[in-house]
Amino acid sequence: MSVRQLFVTTALPYANGHFHIGHMMEYIQADIWVRFQRMQGSQVYFVCADDAHGAPIMIAAEKAGKTPQQFVADIAAGRKPYLDGFNIEFDNWHSTDGPENHKLAQDIYKDLRAAGFISTKVIEQFFDPEKNMFLPDRFIKGECPKCGAKDQYGDSCEACGAVYAPTDLKNPYSALSGATPILKSSEHYFFKLSDPRCLEFLKKWTHQAGRLQAEVLNKIKEWFEKDEQGNGGLGDWDISRDAPYFGIEIPDAPGKYFYVWLDAPIGYLAALKNHLDKIGVNYDSYISNPLVEQYHFIGKDITYFHTLFFPAILNFSGRKTPTSIFVHGFITVRGEKMSKSRGTGIDPLKYLSIGMNPEWLRYYLATKLNARNEDIDFNPDDFMARVNSDLVGKFINIASRAGGFITKQFNGSLGDSSGDGIALINQLQSSMPAINQLYEQRDFAKALREIMLLADRVNEYVDQNKPWELAKNESMGHRLHDVCTTCIQCFRILTLMLKPVLPKLAKDVEAFLNIAPLSSNDASALLPSGHKIGEYKHLMQRVDGRFLDELFEAPTEVTASIDPPVGEEIAPQISIEDFSKIDLRIALITDCKSVDGSIKLLQLTLDVGETKPRNVFSGIASVYKPQDLIGKLTVLVANLAPRKMKFGVSEGMVLAASHADEKSHPGIYLLNPSDGAKPGMRIH
Ligand code: MSP
Ligand code: ZN
Repeated sequence: MSVRQLFVTTALPYANGHFHIGHMMEYIQADIWVRFQRMQGSQVYFVCADDAHGAPIMIAAEKAGKTPQQFVADIAAGRKPYLDGFNIEFDNWHSTDGPENHKLAQDIYKDLRAAGFISTKVIEQFFDPEKNMFLPDRFIKGECPKCGAKDQYGDSCEACGAVYAPTDLKNPYSALSGATPILKSSEHYFFKLSDPRCLEFLKKWTHQAGRLQAEVLNKIKEWFEKDEQGNGGLGDWDISRDAPYFGIEIPDAPGKYFYVWLDAPIGYLAALKNHLDKIGVNYDSYISNPLVEQYHFIGKDITYFHTLFFPAILNFSGRKTPTSIFVHGFITVRGEKMSKSRGTGIDPLKYLSIGMNPEWLRYYLATKLNARNEDIDFNPDDFMARVNSDLVGKFINIASRAGGFITKQFNGSLGDSSGDGIALINQLQSSMPAINQLYEQRDFAKALREIMLLADRVNEYVDQNKPWELAKNESMGHRLHDVCTTCIQCFRILTLMLKPVLPKLAKDVEAFLNIAPLSSNDASALLPSGHKIGEYKHLMQRVDGRFLDELFEAPTEVTASIDPPVGEEIAPQISIEDFSKIDLRIALITDCKSVDGSIKLLQLTLDVGETKPRNVFSGIASVYKPQDLIGKLTVLVANLAPRKMKFGVSEGMVLAASHADEKSHPGIYLLNPSDGAKPGMRIH
């Protein structure tokens, strides 16, 4: 059989905030599936990217005093600790603002235009008369035209799932200024989703066996239908936005940009292309290969974009469409929805920083995830029960019950299993195909239930044979060896079964058992008699309730806010005399160089109105390029004692702002006085 080739993505997160538990759930779900596929021998590219464009990010960047590019880069720089921390192994993390995406989006658009699927129309749109700009959908709120729910966004209703135009909202208001928006006209570009060819294609595409989950398909059928008044059905899709907009320019349409949802899913392809370019694989032949299976993991809120718009623009621009879209439900925490502004009851980085094991969360979520798009809840008591009684109590327990005897009594060597042991091992081995199938179908909950039932069988075997009794009787040494060997053989197979969920634990087990990394077809072979295993050390702690107390402790003011960057208590009070000891001066950066042998430092030459320029080293090389600083004004602590450094003497210090915890809140911001300040002026 030829090797399966899979291209897998998760939804591209908006680059205007850090990850919450909902993002982590999606990445963990996809990561488990990808790891499973890789263990099966499939060849997988697993990629993601930041969704960089759109008015909300542009507005957030402006508020933060950054360019959108810098804003997005700062968010992207904070992604790694989340992904590494939870053992999520993307092959590539890219950005929809990358050059690949600009080109791909423009190419797809041109192909759609050539095929007659683009039209233009002058439309009236909401304009904020106070802010002087067209209002993005998300910044217009009002009542849902379908169900009447209050305070719904301008693009879709969170109560009933309807998708509509902002002008359909009842009693609209601007979320930027509160003003009642006025209508203003402008020419917009449309994708002709209403073309009968689209409906025909999408009906066929969505109904293809295996394409979509049954409950997803049911929802889509509603979207196809027009109601009695002739409303609904597939309408043309507005794909353009007017400047000012952070996005990709529409070819031959000055001042017009692609609406973010046009280029965002194309970003999947761009992230793949970026990866393939790096590893020297031809993107065009890969992506058009009919044997390549293409899967997108997404949450239920973005189904419309992925099951209608995305396949339609790919198909009618002459491209291959996804094999399946895998839709999951939402996670709540202790029954509560997470609010976009507040984040959620669980901060993933806090989870890690207080010493909780990331694999506990992977395991717990896996026990709840199946192939339906049901919502799930993180419940602390349930979390403790699953991890402590099942994962540790059933699975880890097997190794701890047998490992010590093998080490102490048999010098670490395995023996042979006899009759009942062989039968037990066979039972585990023959369950492998069914468990693999459950993984394949993304029914992780059921797979883990089955695996834990097998662990129960092994524990029953231990209880029946009582190795602790056998150990008391010297004549039973052979039987003790046989029983403990069987346990270790079973433990190895169970580890193999759990490996997609618990990659780190599996690695530790592989080290303990002194074996090569386990892959799916290793179940049939057993460890040979005489194989030496390592000394048993406890492989996983139980969850202590105090962890959960700490996790849910109301965040202190320090960790509570993400933006603006804080993280430090205000220093003890000082008097004005204390302050006047510090001589702060306006400094003009007349020259700036990188420092040989240091990745952190830049060397600044400063004019502070003295006869001689000052030489200052500053740890800002990670965020500023020398040529960007030359000619800028900043602030110098002018009476700081000179400091001798490896690279020379630093005659003062320039001022910059940063978060106390620079790892999770990267970014350093050099102070910049208002225009008109002259070098040497004192700051009072
Ligand atoms: N940027 C868009 C996706 C573009 S894909 C071409 C977006 N971003 S998001 O950051 O809001 O959401 C990213 C993913 O997280 C989505 O799949 C979304 O459904 C998922 N989740 C957001 N909140 C969630 C939960 N509470 N629970 C589970 N998944 C959740 O949408
Ligand atoms: Zn509604």
